[in-house]
Amino acid sequence: MEKYIINGGNKLYGSVKIQSAKNAVLPILAAAVLTDGKVKILNVPPISDVKNMVKILSCLGCEAVYEGQNILIDSSKADCFEIPSALAHELRSSVFLLGSVISRFHMAKIAYPGGCDIGLRPVDLHLTGLKRLGVQITEKNGYILCKCDKLCGNEIMLDCPSVGATENIMLAAVKAEGVTVIRNAAREPEIEDLQKFLNCIGAKVSGAGSGTVRIEGVNELHGCQYQPIPDRIEAGTFLIGAAMCGGEVSVENVCPENISSLIHKLRENGCKIHINGDKIVLENHRRLASVKSIETQPYPGFPTDLQAQATALCCICNGHSIITENLFETRFKYVPELRKMGADVTVIDRNAFVRGVEKFKGATVVAHDLRGGAALVLAALAAEGRSEVLDISHIDRGYGSFEYKLRNLGADIVRVTV
Ligand code: UD1
Repeated sequence: MEKYIINGGNKLYGSVKIQSAKNAVLPILAAAVLTDGKVKILNVPPISDVKNMVKILSCLGCEAVYEGQNILIDSSKADCFEIPSALAHELRSSVFLLGSVISRFHMAKIAYPGGCDIGLRPVDLHLTGLKRLGVQITEKNGYILCKCDKLCGNEIMLDCPSVGATENIMLAAVKAEGVTVIRNAAREPEIEDLQKFLNCIGAKVSGAGSGTVRIEGVNELHGCQYQPIPDRIEAGTFLIGAAMCGGEVSVENVCPENISSLIHKLRENGCKIHINGDKIVLENHRRLASVKSIETQPYPGFPTDLQAQATALCCICNGHSIITENLFETRFKYVPELRKMGADVTVIDRNAFVRGVEKFKGATVVAHDLRGGAALVLAALAAEGRSEVLDISHIDRGYGSFEYKLRNLGADIVRVTV
């Protein structure tokens, strides 16, 4: 077990380079199972979710080799359609493998996926979509069993624009017979990136980024080299950190348009933000004004994955804020921890009511999930005094070299083995 020890109060200055997006890399790794060609993914982030996904690929018989920060995957000898339960429990994204494994073997067996404990996180839309493509599904003893004679394209209407369901159906449909159309598809940038990757290996996918994705089945796929998009959530986390601690930080290797909802809110707070190509520079030297409300929405709305970090910021702004979480039921688990640091927050149903305090005070707090954990680190960096953030394995799921990047900006943070 590891923890962070943080001495708060340092302003942040300098530049930070953003990693490839976790939520783009994971479905792309799953997609590598679809082809016998060699796939090289560039600049893969050193995070445990990726390491676990690579372990699952190895269990399926794929060869996955790290070459520095790149991963080379050769799935030509893949021979297993079962995803081991221990790994599926570690990683929510293991569920994406259903689409690619069923496409490859016409059989798939996977334990119900794990991941962050932020709500019910059902997979009914994934399964309904796969059924529409001709997959027979049975659920038994915590496992999902899928089989089909062949996959046939179809029209699929999603009840809500689920990111994972959209991606899973895209993966299953790439080699299906005929055309698949997904309506009410999720519009997140990572879906568009998956489309780009799939087309690089020879698929015919269009429309990603809009509410309708069209997939024309093909028979053959090949290899490719691919650079995934930058991580908008990591970028947003550093921007919020700079706003909370004060200073001047240049966040580099970003697609600013992918986090325009956050930039809009930070400007409303009073931060000075300059955008120049793939760089965003945030400057702040004073206590910020509160934003009245933040409401999480599917893209292009405010991302649920930045909700905890944004709430931490609101806690030390001047005035009141209301943060509404519309996507996941229990995504305020970090709030009692923020209260230990002096925050004045009350959660009622899906709303957090925040009364801004002057400063956080150092405390020992526990990370319960990935983004909530990152929010606690930001709070500790902005706090007066010493904090400990326990259970940081949650943070390691999504932030590569987090403390190293923060130290480069002048933060006083060390990782300690307990
Ligand atoms: C993905 C992201 C996650 C992000 C989330 C929302 C990855 C690896 N993870 O998660 O970081 O927080 O999008 O942007 O990309 N739902 C159902 N039935 C389903 C599937 C989803 O009801 O079968 C509901 C969920 O309970 C939730 C909403 O749809 O309320 C959105 O979930 P979804 O978009 O599927 O999130 P994930 O793909 O799990």
